[in-house]
Formats: sequence, structure tokens, C-alpha cells
Amino acid sequence: MSKNRLCDVLGIEKPVIQGALAWLTDAKLVAAVGNAGGMGVLGPNAGQTTVTPDPGETAERMRDEIRKVRQLSDKPFAVNIGWMTSFPNTFAEPILKVVYEEHVPVALYSGEIDTDLIKDMKAHDMKVIYRELNPTVEGAQQAEAAGADAIVATGFDEGGTLPGRVIGTFSIVPMLADAVSIPVLAAGAVSDARTAKAAFDLGAEGLYCGTAFIASQECRVPDNVKQAIITNNAVDLGMYKTWPSYYRSLPGALADELVKRDAEGATREELAKLQGGIRNMKVGMLDGDIDKGYISVGTGISLIHDIKPVSAIIDTLTADLD
Ligand SMILES: Cc1cc2nc3c(=O)[nH]c(=O)nc-3n(C[C@H](O)[C@H](O)[C@H](O)COP(=O)(O)O)c2cc1C
Repeated sequence: MSKNRLCDVLGIEKPVIQGALAWLTDAKLVAAVGNAGGMGVLGPNAGQTTVTPDPGETAERMRDEIRKVRQLSDKPFAVNIGWMTSFPNTFAEPILKVVYEEHVPVALYSGEIDTDLIKDMKAHDMKVIYRELNPTVEGAQQAEAAGADAIVATGFDEGGTLPGRVIGTFSIVPMLADAVSIPVLAAGAVSDARTAKAAFDLGAEGLYCGTAFIASQECRVPDNVKQAIITNNAVDLGMYKTWPSYYRSLPGALADELVKRDAEGATREELAKLQGGIRNMKVGMLDGDIDKGYISVGTGISLIHDIKPVSAIIDTLTADLD
């Protein structure tokens, strides 16, 4: 496809963004996406295998990963700033400071809308992509008015922390595309040429994909997890409520127990405790222990049949786009 206005605003060749993926991104993946013409995002704990309780040390680790991206690629990339206005942003604030100091070109801001934060990022010469966890017309319009460059419309089909409202990608993309004049990116089960084309037909001007890139050769997820993604499909996924909304997982001892306890009436708090937050996402998806951790992916796994290089994934996604 030829470049569109999302490409122009971000300075990239193809309108494909690799979404933030807690624990699973690193400089290698992000550089590979950029070098293939799309744009990668360093997510929480990018490149790490441990956490430190020290927010300053966490931010310095992100600085190292940002510098590694630059050693591998001269293309634009983003860092995920997860922002909660209702919550102390203890780890996000030092990371944002490092992002400014390192002149990272793009912020992938996910969380509750904070128009002052968008204005601050713009004042630091950044491009801003805003992803509201529970997408709304109001949030998208406020982000646009504050200067955001693009909006992610996330459907319930996605992997990761699901939106609290059960609105599929097919419904949320045109709803937000009609509400703003800046480019909208479609997130949630976009994983082949057909879903990509459908997203564009619905008004999207970019693709925001997580699961498709987990199944790439360059992603640091171990082979047993990648094999589980290609051998299962959407009907194999279990879903359970947890904090702050819902999660899906491929089968495994912990995931099966969460689905069962949810059906038996366990509370959101009880399930969140059993789930173990993104700590057990690391156990499942980075350490590869499918029984002790969980494997969070979107319903688009049905369309993923082999583990390909990032460049081939981007070529497939853009094959039928005009
Ligand atoms: C394993 C996993 C971890 C994720 N972690 C984050 C995260 O830390 N921050 C965030 O904003 N989104 C996160 N997401 C959501 C993705 O950025 C993206 O919205 C989603 O993967 C798109 O749907 P898809 O997986 O169907 O392509 C995660 C998704 C997955 C599958």
C-alpha cells in the first residue's frame, strides 16, 4: 500500500503499530517492526526479566532499552506511558521524564484521559497516540482537542486487559472514526489481511496489533507459548472477570481454575488475587510456564497459523490495503 496520513504524521512507511505488551517487548522486537516499515512500542518492563520496586531504577532500565532500540534502528518508535488519573503514577512519571530526556519521538499513552498530559507531551515535541482502556467518543474527542495525533479504538476482541464494556472491534472502530478527524487505529483481533482490510473499511487508518506480533520470530516469548498460539483458536480461550475488567487466556491449570471459580461466583477481588496481576502473565508468557501463569491473547489467534518474521507479518497485514 502507499503511505497514508498516519504514516506521514508518524514518519513511517506502513500504518502498522505493534501494541504495548507488558513483559513481552524489547529493543529487538521494536527495532524489527520499525525496520520493516511499521512502528514498535516499548511496553511495561521492556527487555527485563526482573522488576525493581524503585521507580527511578525502573525508568533507567527503560532508558537503556530506548538506547538499544537506537543501536538497532534509526526509525521512529514509541514508549508506552500507562496513565491513571485516579491512581498514583509512581512508575509512569519517572519513565515519562526519561522519555522526554531521550527525545523519544512518539508516546503511546494508554489509560484514563488527561488532557494536560497530552498537552505536556506535545509541548515536548512528541507525537501522541491515545488509547483509552474503555474507549468512548468523549475521550477520543477530548484527546483530539488536546492535540493527540491518533486514537486507538480497542475492541473486546483484543488480548491483554479487556475493555470493561463488551463492544467488539467491528463496533468501536467506526464509532470512534466518525467522532474524530484525526486517524483512528483499530485494535482487537486484527491479525491477517482480511481483518486488516475490514478495519480500514470501517474507517481505521492504522492497525494496532498485539497478538499477531507475539507470534513473530523476533518476539522474546518462548517457543512453547508461540506453539500454543498457533495450535489453538478462539474457542479454546477461557475468559474470567478480574481487576479492572476481564482477561482471556489459553487453557492451563491457573487459567482453567480462574474460569471455574468465576463460574462458581467468586468475586472480582478474589479472582484478581488468584490471577496474580501481570506477574503471572510473565510466568506464563515469558517464563513459558503455561500452568502456573496465564497466556493472554486476542480472539484473532484463529487466523495465526505459523511463526513468521515481523516483516512478513507486516506485509500480510498490509497486503490488501489500498
Ligand atoms: C500479552 C499482552 C499484554 C499487553 N500489555 C499491555 C500493556 O502493558 N499496556 C497496554 O496499553 N496494552 C497492553 N496490551 C494490549 C495491546 O497493546 C493491544 O491493545 C492488543 O494486543 C490488541 O489486540 P490483539 O492482541 O487482538 O492484537 C497487551 C496485550 C497482550 C496480548
